[in-house]
Amino acid sequence: MTTDLYTRAESAAAFVLSQTALRPRIGLVLGSGLGSFADELANAVRIPYAHIPTFPRSTAIGHAGQLVVGKSGGIAVAAMQGRVHLYEGYSAAEVAFPTRVLGRVGVRALILTNAAGGINSEYGQGALVVLRDHINLQGQNPLTGANDERFGARFPDMTYTYNKRYREIALEEAKKLSIPPHEGVYAALAGPSYETPAEIRCLRTIGADLVGMSTVPEAIAARHMGMSVLAISCVTNMAAGILDKPLDHAEVLEVGRRVMGQFVALLRAVIPRIAEEVKKAD
Ligand code: HPA
Repeated sequence: MTTDLYTRAESAAAFVLSQTALRPRIGLVLGSGLGSFADELANAVRIPYAHIPTFPRSTAIGHAGQLVVGKSGGIAVAAMQGRVHLYEGYSAAEVAFPTRVLGRVGVRALILTNAAGGINSEYGQGALVVLRDHINLQGQNPLTGANDERFGARFPDMTYTYNKRYREIALEEAKKLSIPPHEGVYAALAGPSYETPAEIRCLRTIGADLVGMSTVPEAIAARHMGMSVLAISCVTNMAAGILDKPLDHAEVLEVGRRVMGQFVALLRAVIPRIAEEVKKAD
């Protein structure tokens, strides 16, 4: 007998909650090269994905593969160090499974982060960009198949995917930290090959500022469950064909590490303000 997704998410969440006395209302997914935020959490428990029942395991280089539950500035958070991607062979529903688990753990605000290619020429390498919206070009949706009403409605609204108040907070805190405040539209492709220059010209024409291979399945599942979402991309490289040079995954990881200080500072500044918003929404 196959266990349904909701029951699986409940079991995985119960296991996570059995490992810590903290009850996080804020979740984070830390993308390629961006994991070290979770190294600095206080009172942390580190739960390898392999220990969480039915949790998918990341194979991508630069993804540690553990859930860290701890405190940032006194606020309980659940931070995923590494995620799984469609290109690893997982379905969109499996890619979004950890988001389902965070939702069942009690997370109400989800902060998604990723490494992305910059299409908008106002961005430079290392820029941090708050997502205003996305374009799903992955050819898959985590909600495909029978809808489980315990998660949410069959046809969830996506007009307000990236919470406006959270975006304002992130841009305000970026300014305070002297990080240039950028907002943009993220196009998600399945990967794993990078885009061609012609594909990047096409993406620019349809309104994309950034391109990457993640985030969208999680954002859709989070909205399905009524969580509020903030997403921040780190522009690790300019997208294919913008500069006359090939793309390189090692460079993606290197740039992530280089802006890590800024990135961690931004997350630390944003979390207490999002915690206030979560309280207000209760
Ligand atoms: N394209 C797709 N995904 C990425 C890129 C890119 O240029 N950089 C980092 N992730």
